[in-house]
Amino acid sequence: MKKVILGVMAIMSVLGVSAQSIYDFKVKDDMGNDVSLADYKGKVLLIVNTATRCGFTPQYDELEALYEKYHADGFEILDFPCNQFGEQAPGTIEEIHQFCTANFNIQFPQFDKIDVNGANESPLFTYLKAQKGFGGFDLNDQRGKFMDEMLRKQDADYDKKSDIKWNFTKFLVSRDGRVVKRYEPTDKMTDIDAAIEIEMNPVLSSIMARRSIRKYLDKPVEHEKLEMVVCAGINAPSGMNRQPWIVRVVEDQQLIADVTEVYKRNNPEQVKRDKDFKNMFRNAPNLICVCTPAEGGGELDAGLLGENMMLAAQSMGLGTCCLGGPVRFLNANADAKFFLDRLDIPEGYKLNYILAIGYPDEQPDAKPRDASKVKYIK
Ligand SMILES: Cc1cc2nc3c(=O)[nH]c(=O)nc-3n(C[C@H](O)[C@H](O)[C@H](O)COP(=O)(O)O)c2cc1C
Repeated sequence: MKKVILGVMAIMSVLGVSAQSIYDFKVKDDMGNDVSLADYKGKVLLIVNTATRCGFTPQYDELEALYEKYHADGFEILDFPCNQFGEQAPGTIEEIHQFCTANFNIQFPQFDKIDVNGANESPLFTYLKAQKGFGGFDLNDQRGKFMDEMLRKQDADYDKKSDIKWNFTKFLVSRDGRVVKRYEPTDKMTDIDAAIEIEMNPVLSSIMARRSIRKYLDKPVEHEKLEMVVCAGINAPSGMNRQPWIVRVVEDQQLIADVTEVYKRNNPEQVKRDKDFKNMFRNAPNLICVCTPAEGGGELDAGLLGENMMLAAQSMGLGTCCLGGPVRFLNANADAKFFLDRLDIPEGYKLNYILAIGYPDEQPDAKPRDASKVKYIK
């Protein structure tokens, strides 16, 4: 049995299925040498399947412009020529490379030719497609409409599949290896440029990557990391530097388990419905409880403290979720008083919100934001 499991694991590993991150993959360079993507840790990557005889081939000019704009600050383009779309990347990799340098003066590395779909597809692209499926062509764009009509004629359900649709599909990867976004060949380079600019800036990258996390690994956050997060929090601005908050960090797993028992008794149906339920704090192993003056005031300052902590946590590979619901439960249930007592909240303060924190075990998509709420007065 053990042998069978090891065998399956070996096959999965060869296929790239067991890969946990983009840095687990090896690819071949234009000389046929193995290159580990771990060599690109800490860099922003744009991974693209290219072709030399395609209507989109002039995009090489724009790719080179992006490369020249950002490369010195840690940006790489990983170019994988692929002959699967209209056989528009014929010839050897040497011929392709000569063509690209002669016609577009490209400076970025070109890797060996690969398949991106089908039986012989590169495990790297299997992974990329699993991370970011097909999001559709922009049908307001003439070329997007053309691509949609062309592909739909071949397969009415083409848009339900995550496979690569054509040459010059691009995947943007953050400095910490997250596949941030997939771009179809018809997507605007100016949008890709703007997204790269965000990823080049670690603060902007953390802001855009943060999502509320409600599934965590069974692994408490190390004390030192919690200290660092809280340090980022108390360095937030506050009116007159009054710092009108009280912060309590819960590392006691038993305390979380005990108060969750009270919650379960009060919400049996809800807990039964939630098959991922671990605890009443959206399953997080650690909590940062933020208190403000009982009489009111300090909420704005406490909110800024919380956002600092969430972004610091994000930048450290931790996930968070701001929680109001559990606070309402704790304040309303006498049986949960032991939890509030353990927090040792000083007289004159009340629990305002709880920040759930832990190692994320999910990657939720961004929820939509309403940009129409913003007006620029010029
Ligand atoms: C004041 C406040 C209270 C919140 N309370 C809860 C909560 O009780 N339970 C929960 O699952 N999420 C809670 N959230 C998280 C929001 O649902 C989440 O921020 C919002 O849906 C946007 O999603 P995002 O954080 O992934 O961008 C709260 C967020 C804030 C700011």
